[in-house]
Amino acid sequence: MFSLTSRFAKAVLVCVTLLCGAAYAADSAPQLDYPADYRNWIFLTSGLDMTYSGEQMAGHHMFDNVFVNPEAYKAFQATGRWPDKTILVKEVRGGQTKGSINRGGTYQQVGVMALEVHAKDEKRFPGQWAFFVFGDAKPAAAIPKEAQCYACHGSHGAVDNTFVQFYPTLMPIAESKKTLAAGYLKDESAAQK
Ligand code: HEC
Repeated sequence: MFSLTSRFAKAVLVCVTLLCGAAYAADSAPQLDYPADYRNWIFLTSGLDMTYSGEQMAGHHMFDNVFVNPEAYKAFQATGRWPDKTILVKEVRGGQTKGSINRGGTYQQVGVMALEVHAKDEKRFPGQWAFFVFGDAKPAAAIPKEAQCYACHGSHGAVDNTFVQFYPTLMPIAESKKTLAAGYLKDESAAQK
């Protein structure tokens, strides 16, 4: 009798642990794998010393290089919209002025300073898009949707939360397909006044 009860108790314990585990997984932020191949993807732009606060760091230069997965680029060319499973990568590198034969201008350093990702998954991410920051090649958890990333991209990005106005091969497509966001068009008409 005793052994039966204890076996029953053990079974209950295992079930509760499994249930809690499942509930915990559902609560925790969605994850994304490190996009190991992004340097073989489609190049969208390099921004140099871009700032959104107006502050510049004297004597310090930074580049950001933006890439997108080839399937999403192809879909955007056809429709002016990002399909499900779009992954955009922003790679940040320091700028260097002195080296080799360089006598003026700024080139990119070898080391990557930061890797930020903006990914679309209509089923897995609340609001369809999520941001991630990778410190190494391990999977990263989505940045909570209260973060500033979502607000700035959502209100100023030219197409569907992304900064297509800074991606020169994509902007003419968005213009011709008429997929520019209302928030962006409002920014533009205010800037022209
Ligand atoms: C104040 C506005 C602002 C905020 C806040 C902001 N971004 Fe951006 N983000 C931009 C701009 C502008 C670009 C275009 C960069 C370029 O042209 O090189 C960009 C581009 C990107 C891209 C390339 C893909 C895309 O969506 O266009 C990624 C990835 C990205 N940001 C990640 C982040 C993450 C992660 C955060 C929060 C930790 C963040 N951003 C916060 C303005 C912002």
